[in-house]
Amino acid sequence: MNAANLLNQRAQGLSQGKIRAMFDKANTMTGVVSMGIGEPDLHTPEAICRACADALLSGYTHYTPNAGFPQLRQAISQYALDVPGLYDPMTEIIVTNGGMGALSLLMLVLLQPGDQVLIQNPQWLNYESQIRFCGGEPVGVPTRKENNLVMTAEDIRKCYVPGKTKALIINSPNNPTGEVVPVEELKKIAELAQELDLLVISDEVYNTLLYEGEKAVSISSLPGMKERTVVINSFSKSYAMTGWRVGFAAAPAPIVAKMTVLQENFNSCVNAAAQMGAIYALEHPELRQELNDSLTARRKVALEGIQSIPGMKCSSPKGAFYLFPDISSFGMDSNTFCDRLLDEAKVVCIPGSAFGSCGEGHFRLSYTAKMDQLTEALERMRKFCENL
Ligand SMILES: Cc1ncc(COP(=O)(O)O)c(C=O)c1O
Repeated sequence: MNAANLLNQRAQGLSQGKIRAMFDKANTMTGVVSMGIGEPDLHTPEAICRACADALLSGYTHYTPNAGFPQLRQAISQYALDVPGLYDPMTEIIVTNGGMGALSLLMLVLLQPGDQVLIQNPQWLNYESQIRFCGGEPVGVPTRKENNLVMTAEDIRKCYVPGKTKALIINSPNNPTGEVVPVEELKKIAELAQELDLLVISDEVYNTLLYEGEKAVSISSLPGMKERTVVINSFSKSYAMTGWRVGFAAAPAPIVAKMTVLQENFNSCVNAAAQMGAIYALEHPELRQELNDSLTARRKVALEGIQSIPGMKCSSPKGAFYLFPDISSFGMDSNTFCDRLLDEAKVVCIPGSAFGSCGEGHFRLSYTAKMDQLTEALERMRKFCENL
């Protein structure tokens, strides 16, 4: 028997993303500095780990309700949403295995074959493969450089197909660009979503990582939007808890109800002790400060370093931990640039084209590495560019 032939068509269509491929290549080399990874290098604050360890030792070793502990849902409703109490903890919030767990449950309960979901181009890779796997069709909304690659309401309108377009994903602050959708544009997008009767999936996993006084506004808080918005968020980026796999969705009750039944049948619930750590985290937002301070300092160094390299252009994105410099003046595509950067300077960055065709001419840099590695990588990059 050839086991590969047993796989269904959807599984056969799954493939490894470009980011993973870059790391696989880097792993075969020595002396590499990575600016590719999408997670902070800091460990989870100790107090959160202690809360989790205490929970384990005091018997939090059992299944939890499928939608998560009520105390955690309460804390999410109170502390983790743009407008406290906007979503009812018992019927409109579900705790999931990270933001990805929330997205995958959502796509599974939402999509019918042929349903189109609009996503910004360029955008984080996983949306596309999740949508496809669930039978939907991802449609990239082209963006323009003059808008710093942030999609506008008008860009979205052009991609709308009556009877086919079901939902729109907004990810602000954004992976890979770090850009935040301006509030005025968000209002226009909200009005358009109501006019076209679209569900909006608002992925807010970076909404606590903001700079230069930027404030996160959730589209769910705008008039008429709560009933048509699914907020996705997680503890991964905000509290340096990527390995804990705790996230959530806040959504209209019928959607949360079905996601909860699906979770019951597919993976039961999120790890009990990790949920207790998450409650502690939400009750102590001051624990985010160290991460925010370190990212603020690294962002300054990364931005100044990149902006001072002749030929490179870079906006000052106000969120997340990414820069998306424009390298089009070097006369090569982003794949070639990043491959050569790795081969010749031993620095890992991710080609912009991996995030969609409008990312071509750019690369993604994560400023999550330690300061000495960051400065080393910037120096290597400067020399590499000077020799091009
Ligand atoms: C835009 C975006 N959404 C969601 C996630 C998922 O995060 P997690 O599943 O760790 O909560 C990521 C992770 O990189 C991301 O970049």
